[in-house]
Amino acid sequence: MFDTTLRDGDQMPGIELDASEKISIAILLDEARVDIIEAGFPASSRIDYESVRSIKREVSYSRVAALARANPDDVDAAAAAEADIIHVFIATSDTHMRYKLRMSPEEVIRSAVDAVERARSYGAYVLFSAEDATRSDPAFLVRVYKSVVAAGAKYINIPDTVGTATPWRMEWLVGLVRSSLPGYVSIDVHCHNDFGLAVANTLAGVRAGADGVQVTVNGFGERGGNAALEEVVAALHFLMGYRTGVRMEMLTKLSGMVAEVFGVKMPPNKPVTGLNAFAHEAGIHVHGVLKNPATYEPMPPEAVGNRRRIVLGRHSGRAAVAYALKAMGYEPSSEAVDFVLEKLKEAAPRIKKVSEDIIEKWMMEYYSRKIGAAGDVKTVIAAR
Ligand code: KIV
Ligand code: ZN
Repeated sequence: MFDTTLRDGDQMPGIELDASEKISIAILLDEARVDIIEAGFPASSRIDYESVRSIKREVSYSRVAALARANPDDVDAAAAAEADIIHVFIATSDTHMRYKLRMSPEEVIRSAVDAVERARSYGAYVLFSAEDATRSDPAFLVRVYKSVVAAGAKYINIPDTVGTATPWRMEWLVGLVRSSLPGYVSIDVHCHNDFGLAVANTLAGVRAGADGVQVTVNGFGERGGNAALEEVVAALHFLMGYRTGVRMEMLTKLSGMVAEVFGVKMPPNKPVTGLNAFAHEAGIHVHGVLKNPATYEPMPPEAVGNRRRIVLGRHSGRAAVAYALKAMGYEPSSEAVDFVLEKLKEAAPRIKKVSEDIIEKWMMEYYSRKIGAAGDVKTVIAAR
């Protein structure tokens, strides 16, 4: 598991993390047992340089990677920041080579090899990425990878830089690269989400023999973002039977904390870690879930640190109300359940969403009436 929230995620438009924000996210990623944290791009700014150095000292489990373009200054900056892994990249697609780099394919190979050799001379473990790999000529791409492996890179990455791959194309390409390189070379996939396929493409890469996945928390990143760490981990575990080593029970906390630091409000329907990921409306679904959660839940919510929510509406019955109250921490008497059910039937046509706040208010009303101390909140709370 290679997390690049602090590098690719930090490239999200409008986001600029400072060093302390980066460190706080890194500490949580380390605690969650993410294998590699890409902490920044030292040549790009002082903040990134300092962040890589500090994060390297703060973490105990994760290894720290730093990004570098395939030029001597960038490699030197990554080495000076004391990263465990120097992540060298250069673009290999015709479009990028011609219009962005203005370099010939031979020049690109030369720069890639020189940069890998320079990074190796610092004793660093080298990761090489062929930017825009999925739009590169496959024969040229394989040549580039073979050249950097001959120069000492034992770890390569196949990025779908503008998210144009499909799962079947990704599977084919990763299979081609896998079969062209020696078995000791570790292969990552790095998928962007421009067509909403980043997670699917990542899983396809793993199916074809990729050893590692590059992801960001909440899928934060450039444009449509990257493959989301929490979705990839859950899918690898529950759909493909892989054990990533990530502490899955931390996923919801990680997602919430990173969203807060980035200042982004997550949509409620965010898979795995969202508010509605395990929420059930009244009716057939609630009935099924109350009998056996497996009817409408693809994984146990607590396995990913989330929780089940029963959303109440005018079709709810006593069982759903009792369940919702228990999930909110009450031990409701049948009298309390009846009280809330009556309130619900009366209010549901008027209010669109019966939130936990409203239910809380009804429970306070119930307790107030019961002890005859309306308004005395302390007494009401004590009565609970
Ligand atoms: O998307 C991309 O190509 C990248 C590389 C730098 C790995 O982020
Ligand atoms: Zn990227």
